[in-house]
Amino acid sequence: MAVSYKKIGLVNTREMFAKAVAGGYAIPAYNFNNMEQLQAIIQACVEVKSPVILQVSSGARKYANQTLLRYMAEGAVEFAKELGGNIPICLHLDHGDTFELCKSCIETGFSSVMIDGSHHPYEKNVELTRQVVEYAHQFDVTVEGELGVLAGIEDDVKAESHTYTRPEEVQDFVSRTGVDSLAISIGTSHGAYKFKPGTNPKIRLDILHEIEKRIPGFPIVLHGSSSVPPEIVAMVNNYGGKLKDAIGIPEEQLREAARSAVCKINIDSDGRLAMTAAIRKVFVEKPDEFDPRKYLGPARDALKNLYKHKCEAVLGSAGRA
Ligand code: G3H
Ligand code: 13P
Ligand code: ZN
Repeated sequence: MAVSYKKIGLVNTREMFAKAVAGGYAIPAYNFNNMEQLQAIIQACVEVKSPVILQVSSGARKYANQTLLRYMAEGAVEFAKELGGNIPICLHLDHGDTFELCKSCIETGFSSVMIDGSHHPYEKNVELTRQVVEYAHQFDVTVEGELGVLAGIEDDVKAESHTYTRPEEVQDFVSRTGVDSLAISIGTSHGAYKFKPGTNPKIRLDILHEIEKRIPGFPIVLHGSSSVPPEIVAMVNNYGGKLKDAIGIPEEQLREAARSAVCKINIDSDGRLAMTAAIRKVFVEKPDEFDPRKYLGPARDALKNLYKHKCEAVLGSAGRA
């Protein structure tokens, strides 16, 4: 049965983004697949008083079951209140690739969807994005589109190298599709291996500023924005992991992007790394332990600390709820 996100206490991104653009900060978009990740996100954002976007990928839907995820998000709203925080919470589909998937998410309580037509030819991307916008806006659900292709893996779509967003296309794309926000490609990428070792880890803030000039004040989104903290990578490796040459986006560059029109920053890999490091530590130090709470609990604490740090020191979203 169809459910409206408003009935479950979620919000869309419109007001969040307007405030973030005006205030020079970005809203965290944290991916979740299970209960511990969701608990950590909510605990962290309540503690630092940050608005938050809970992000669900197609892979997460397959892993966790979409009905369970919808009730988990509903539970998250109540959980936040129990913790004493009335923070704005958005439930967002990450990298939706078809109209049908977006429609299905809207029917099951999502307040925001991404239609990622970035790998299609330009006109096809416009057409698909506009179709999703026309449907979503009937239910006051906001839509994120994407122009330009990130290097690495965008879900099932593999791209060898970046196709940076072309600033001369953004105005046309935004006005013809009616999207509420635009994800751009400026050198970020998904996963833990964003730059070759020995190269300068630098994103193209010059392209971002050129885009901003073309669509002043329009909400911009950055995917692939994990920083792959070296101390967390070292911890994974110290406890038996084998992550070689994992490199992310330096925090100062994200901070600078968040001060501009970038108002949503997507972070998934850093959470995966933090959980893995904490779990590996327990497995090595307490090989006789077999109660999942004894390793998922520390993993949840590590995640919470990571998310708080992002809101406070990188995105600037702490205290904005
Ligand atoms: O952009 C991709 C996100 O990190 C989600 O990853 O498709 O493995 O769930 P996933
Ligand atoms: P990371 O892999 O850098 O965390 O990016 C996540 C993302 O963009 C989700 O859409
Ligand atoms: Zn992404």
